[in-house]
Amino acid sequence: MRTSPEDHLTIGEVVHRTGVSASALHFYERKGLIFSERDGGNQRLYPRHMLRRISLIIVAKRLGIPLADVAAVFTTLPGDRAPTHQDWQRVSLAWKGQLEERRRAIENLEHELTGCIGCGCLSMKACLLLNPDDALGPQGPGPVRLQDGGSVRPPRHSGRG
Ligand code: FES
Repeated sequence: MRTSPEDHLTIGEVVHRTGVSASALHFYERKGLIFSERDGGNQRLYPRHMLRRISLIIVAKRLGIPLADVAAVFTTLPGDRAPTHQDWQRVSLAWKGQLEERRRAIENLEHELTGCIGCGCLSMKACLLLNPDDALGPQGPGPVRLQDGGSVRPPRHSGRG
């Protein structure tokens, strides 16, 4: 239900205000992240408070937060008004946690990669990057992944793996 024309923006106005392309807005709308209403001429009109949601999408994109996670967060936000300061605090804290988790994962990968430097074994069994936590161990010895792939079987590894 429209309240007043000032409470709504055309797609051109939203593009101008946010720098987000019309096609991206359509995409976000199809994903249920934002929504619009239709005027008498069937043109999209966005409630003004969608600008805040779009701002959150822009921030999430910058942080590398997957759209599925953004969608999950948006289900906790009010649909009929802009997110409040408290809403943003909650969302930013959750996303900070995700960034910290990602940083730890990258640090672990970096540590494992450091172990590979100068090694070159590329062992499906011994290399932590290829077989994290020996996840392939229960599937038997040898290059399980490549055998599953079917066509390529690397030379037998004579080192740790
Ligand atoms: S290449 Fe990763 S441990 Fe050898």
